[in-house]
Amino acid sequence: MLKTGCLFRAFLAAALLLEASSLQTITALYGDTIKVPCNPGGVKPASHMFTKWKYDIPDSAPGDLLVKQAHMDEVTIQATGFYKDRVSMGNDSSLLISRATLEDQKTFTCMEVGPADIKEYSTNVLVYKKPSAPQIKDKVKELENGKLTAVGECVALNANPPANITWFKNDTQLTDDGKLIVITVLLKKDPTTGLTTTSSKLQYTAVKQDVYSTFTCTIQHPLGPVQVSAPEKFTVIYPTETVDLQVVNKGSIKEGDNVTLKCKADGNPRPTSFNFHLKGKKVTVDNTDTYALTDVTRNSTGEYKCSPVNNDKMVGSKNIVVHYLDVSLNPSGKIIKNVEEALEVQMQKNASADVKVSWTKDNEKLGKQPVFTQLKYSDSGVYECEVSVEGITKKRSFQLVVEGKPVIKKLDKKRGDEGKHKVLMCEAEGSPKPTVQWSINGTYEESPYINGKITHKITVLPRENLTVTCMVSNKLGADTKEILVSSLFEEERGKQKGTPGEGEDQAKLIVGIVVGLILAAMIVGIIYWIYQKKSKQGSWKTGEKERGTSEESKKLEENNHKPEV
Ligand SMILES: *[C@@H]1O[C@H](CO)[C@@H](O)[C@H](O)[C@H]1NC(C)=O
Ligand SMILES: *[C@@H]1O[C@H](CO)[C@@H](O)[C@H](O)[C@H]1NC(C)=O
Ligand SMILES: *[C@@H]1O[C@H](CO)[C@@H](O)[C@H](O)[C@H]1NC(C)=O
Ligand SMILES: *[C@@H]1O[C@H](CO)[C@@H](O)[C@H](O)[C@H]1NC(C)=O
Ligand SMILES: *[C@@H]1O[C@H](CO)[C@@H](O)[C@H](O)[C@H]1NC(C)=O
Ligand SMILES: *[C@@H]1O[C@H](CO)[C@@H](O)[C@H](O)[C@H]1NC(C)=O
Ligand SMILES: *[C@@H]1O[C@H](CO)[C@@H](O)[C@H](O)[C@H]1NC(C)=O
Ligand SMILES: *[C@@H]1O[C@H](CO)[C@@H](O)[C@H](O)[C@H]1NC(C)=O
Repeated sequence: MLKTGCLFRAFLAAALLLEASSLQTITALYGDTIKVPCNPGGVKPASHMFTKWKYDIPDSAPGDLLVKQAHMDEVTIQATGFYKDRVSMGNDSSLLISRATLEDQKTFTCMEVGPADIKEYSTNVLVYKKPSAPQIKDKVKELENGKLTAVGECVALNANPPANITWFKNDTQLTDDGKLIVITVLLKKDPTTGLTTTSSKLQYTAVKQDVYSTFTCTIQHPLGPVQVSAPEKFTVIYPTETVDLQVVNKGSIKEGDNVTLKCKADGNPRPTSFNFHLKGKKVTVDNTDTYALTDVTRNSTGEYKCSPVNNDKMVGSKNIVVHYLDVSLNPSGKIIKNVEEALEVQMQKNASADVKVSWTKDNEKLGKQPVFTQLKYSDSGVYECEVSVEGITKKRSFQLVVEGKPVIKKLDKKRGDEGKHKVLMCEAEGSPKPTVQWSINGTYEESPYINGKITHKITVLPRENLTVTCMVSNKLGADTKEILVSSLFEEERGKQKGTPGEGEDQAKLIVGIVVGLILAAMIVGIIYWIYQKKSKQGSWKTGEKERGTSEESKKLEENNHKPEV
């Protein structure tokens, strides 16, 4: 071996033609076998004698590795120490180095030696190692809003060359700005392997929205695709910044309601205990943010406040208005008044807001509040007012009864159909309902009793002139009125005399009868005279006389047939 080395140096000393090719670089994987090619062109020099591998040693002569004589299978290992057991030659003269380490990163040179020339091929060997998958270590438990906090450390173990680490929030890369984001990178070389562990420490100033952010770190390395760490989420803590007092009830609040107050405070973690300031009274609640006021009154109207127990400076407040409605109606219940009196109706209301009022009488709508300056029977009834404000409705009512002594308004008579009878009518007003009595018997007919009015009818057949009395009465008094009713027969007679046309006819009738009687007497006389004369003369004429007689009898008949009135 030594001999060969000497021989080699002897060649160099002989200053043979030396051809050096350009330097090439290959990359090997850490732990694998490095294969350093000798002559990439593959063209061996003519009359080639031997192949030799050596490597550069800084500031020193190159180190020998191995030699192979041409046309011989045997390879002579010249290396000592570090490479002694690790080098061999490939069938294409390449150098094989097993179990690559970073120390193998040097320049290896293959020499092809012929009788007259030496060709050298140098190869720079790099040994790369991919880092382990990224991990986030020393994670913080929670981030604090607005405060620069160490989030964690991302580690890329044992790489060559050193790996790069990049931090991301969601999809945005985080870069050190020296203020809100500080990233500290530390490279640590393993003293035995020479591999580098990269660690990157992220300090980050969180905002509240970062509770929804995911943090990842990635590793970039020449040997492979980007590796991404498992995503990490953090809670962001922050103190209470706003406190709001809310009323849970929907709609307006009225007397008698239960009102639930809710003290809404933000912050992470949220406060769990609160002080409620209820118009001068302070109440503390634990593990809840609500407080219920029961059965509120108009006195409960006012300002309410609340704050977290440990933070009196944060205050939420709310003005609460409790609506109320007082209604009084005078008169009330059942009242009895005399007709034509006055009645004052007074409705008083006291409410927290504008009220709506509506009136009804016997369930029928009235346009306005009733006013009674002079009571009428028709004013009797049940009056109700409905008053409402902000969801409160109150009803008040009274029953009015108008009373009065009965009075006969009208007493009248009328001939019935076909003049067979007479109808008397007695119209009275009064309340309670008056009873009607007549001084004679007859067929009664009574109208319905409405608004204090009643009409009584009686049908009579008077045979003589009568004075008929109508008497009406109730518990308050009575009234009577009389009417003269002439007999139907008398009236008939009075009528016959009173008609002039009828008297003339009768006179004609009488004259007719008298004339008729005279004529009859004359006829009898003439017949007797003719009879006497006939006995003396024998012939005579009677035509005219006979005609006259038939005319007379006709008229007589007419008169007899005239109908009586
Ligand atoms: C070198 O050896 C490998 C197997 O180790 C073989 O596949 C290849 O053909 C050989 N090359 C030459 C040039 O002999
Ligand atoms: C991050 O993404 C989540 C959904 O994946 C989204 O809800 C959140 O708002 C994002 N955060 C930021 C700060 O963009
Ligand atoms: C790592 O970072 C350095 C400096 O920013 C850059 O030059 C290099 O290309 C990066 N390496 C990879 C693999 O991204
Ligand atoms: C108010 O709450 C009390 C119990 O605290 C209950 O008895 C009452 O019925 C409630 N009133 C209303 C109007 O809900
Ligand atoms: C309201 O308070 C007054 C005294 O301040 C009291 O006289 C009155 O009865 C209270 N009203 C109600 C409805 O509680
Ligand atoms: C209405 O009610 C309020 C509150 O109870 C009271 O202060 C006021 O005197 C009342 N007004 C009338 C006219 O009753
Ligand atoms: C009415 O008739 C009754 C019997 O029906 C009789 O007793 C009474 O006297 C009569 N009254 C008058 C006023 O005619
Ligand atoms: C009946 O009254 C009429 C007047 O209405 C009178 O003319 C007549 O004489 C009276 N008859 C009797 C019998 O009184």
